[in-house]
Amino acid sequence: MTTQFSKVDDSYDIRFDVPQVQRLRFTKDVFSADIEVLTALIERSGPAPAKVQIWVDNGLQASQGDAFKKLHARLNDEEHIDVVDDVQFVPGGEDCKRDPRLVESMLSTFNKANLDRRSYVLVIGGGAVLDAVGFAAATAHRGIRLIRIPTTTLAQGDSGVGVKNAINFFEKKNWLGTFATPWAVINDAKILETLPNRDFRCGFAEAVKVSLLKSAEQFETLVANASLIFNRDAEKTHQALKHSVLLHLEHITRGGDPFEAEMARPLDFGHWSAHKLEPLSNYTLRHGEAVSIGVALDSLYSSRVYGLSKVDAHRVVGCLAQIGLPTSHPRLADKKTLFDGLEEFRQHLGGELTITMIDQPGQPVNVNTIDYVEMGAAIDELIEISGGPNAIGREFS
Ligand SMILES: NC(=O)c1ccc[n+]([C@@H]2O[C@H](COP(=O)([O-])OP(=O)(O)OC[C@H]3O[C@@H](n4cnc5c(N)ncnc54)[C@H](O)[C@@H]3O)[C@@H](O)[C@H]2O)c1
Ligand SMILES: [Zn+2]
Repeated sequence: MTTQFSKVDDSYDIRFDVPQVQRLRFTKDVFSADIEVLTALIERSGPAPAKVQIWVDNGLQASQGDAFKKLHARLNDEEHIDVVDDVQFVPGGEDCKRDPRLVESMLSTFNKANLDRRSYVLVIGGGAVLDAVGFAAATAHRGIRLIRIPTTTLAQGDSGVGVKNAINFFEKKNWLGTFATPWAVINDAKILETLPNRDFRCGFAEAVKVSLLKSAEQFETLVANASLIFNRDAEKTHQALKHSVLLHLEHITRGGDPFEAEMARPLDFGHWSAHKLEPLSNYTLRHGEAVSIGVALDSLYSSRVYGLSKVDAHRVVGCLAQIGLPTSHPRLADKKTLFDGLEEFRQHLGGELTITMIDQPGQPVNVNTIDYVEMGAAIDELIEISGGPNAIGREFS
């Protein structure tokens, strides 16, 4: 720990750094052949075995058969691990973030098992389940170790390595939550096989987003591989998700602002409108789909007001559409309501409105004002090049 003292009279402003470690692992089949990757991440609790409680997204129950029962037994075979209780199932998707009583029941289950700060909550699921169980784990004893096994492309490429968790509260999304670094994250390839195409594509909206912020080269790769990603090519999808998660991780660990104290939140490129479109669509749009539309929109706006070329902006829209993501939505035309999303975006962080736009692929620019006339024109252009407000990428299946 490094400390710098600055003392004036009897006031003390002391800066301090707390070392944090992000442990990210990639596996092909973590519940079977690669199980050691998981067991190696679990440390004995002094002389006693480490207590582990397993939490699973119930959306996985049908497709994974008895995988979790086997996992439970296999972990218990380890001399340094004590799996407490049966596997706990949680409602998948946004449902688990909407009901605070679920968090209370998670805390109660931790308490009954006497989990402590050296115990592990192993959570397997989509981003919503990771958020809800992660929030409970971060607040119990002020933090029980959390191992995440993300099971959607979105959670593997983006939120899994994030240092945030939250549930919805006062009917506001992510209103109640904490910043907490997970103990470890395991991105497993096999677990994604059961994802329906529509959910599978969602993670690549964030992959396109982060490439536009951090790596022109990776953006080119995504453009070149868009059709293969649409067809779920194993190598290209793995490569795209791996790049995406590593770019997100680099931002969190090297970007200098992991806990978002600054006004700018570059990883939220394309998100001001995405966050508004999700409720406007009555949550029929998935987060990744809304991000796809938001990234397409802010790319067109960036080409009108900032340095991004029109050709590149149109390549962004084309790439997203080729992956099979939507780039338009009927509610996009409701400009006045959509623009309320800018103020809501500002309110979540406080301070001055700060939105990230793109000067070139890989070169973000933070801006404090939006030209509503140009944004309106960008919306019209997006609707037109997407083939109308109802155009939804290549297909939903
Ligand atoms: N904490 C963060 O930094 C952060 C960042 C981005 C998004 N999020 C949150 O993540 C959530 C969205 O997460 P998501 O996109 O991963 O989807 P999700 O968690 O909403 O899951 C979507 C659906 O897929 C099912 N599912 C999950 N894995 C599956 C699999 N392998 N096979 C079959 N079905 C499966 C789930 O049961 C659910 O019904 C939102 O609540 C969002 O706010 C959090
Ligand atoms: Zn997002």
